[in-house]
Amino acid sequence: MLSLACATAALAAPDAPATSANIASAKSAKVTKAAANPTNSASSANSDTSPIYGVTIPDGYRKWQFIAPAHETAPLDELRVVLGNPKAIAAIEKNQLPFPDGTVLVKLAWKHVQSAEFAPAYVPGKATTVQVMVKDSKKYAATGGWGFGRFIDGKAVDAAQHQTCFACHQALVKNHDYVFTRLAP
Ligand code: HEC
Repeated sequence: MLSLACATAALAAPDAPATSANIASAKSAKVTKAAANPTNSASSANSDTSPIYGVTIPDGYRKWQFIAPAHETAPLDELRVVLGNPKAIAAIEKNQLPFPDGTVLVKLAWKHVQSAEFAPAYVPGKATTVQVMVKDSKKYAATGGWGFGRFIDGKAVDAAQHQTCFACHQALVKNHDYVFTRLAP
């Protein structure tokens, strides 16, 4: 239920934005990156790079190690999997919090659809979003050390959606370095 409420709120881009100070500071992080890489504009939706944070979909993430699945009930009806890069996995294995700089977490999501071969099974349908969190405690100091990116069909969604990310992770899992997912047993 909790994650349903969260994800729904995120899609509606609602009432709990990060503070303007947070956003302003995160924006300056973006500007730094954009200036360093002028051919890759970080400012617009429909870009490979998330607004505010300048986060991209990391190369090779589909081969990263699995952390846990999640199932989102109606209305989203999604299956999700969270993967981590080697730094993330090493930190999880050591119970290390906060996560070290260089940690990257990726959450993939699909509509869940009934299996054509076996009715009780639900399997991944259309891919919906890829979401990314990148740890850089200096660059993203105003947002708990995390930069955020949400991508649909490989393109970043708009700034309004990105303004919701930190607020929710901060409100609910500040005591776990702003990360919800625990290693599946
Ligand atoms: C209203 C709450 C809420 C908002 C807003 C939100 N998330 Fe999350 N996020 C969650 C929950 C709950 C999970 C746990 C996994 C699940 O249920 O899908 C999660 C998991 C994640 C994960 C996997 C790591 C972890 O913390 O478990 C990433 C990456 C992520 N979110 C990125 C984002 C990005 C990027 C945005 C903004 C575009 C965002 N989130 C906005 C609630 C939220």
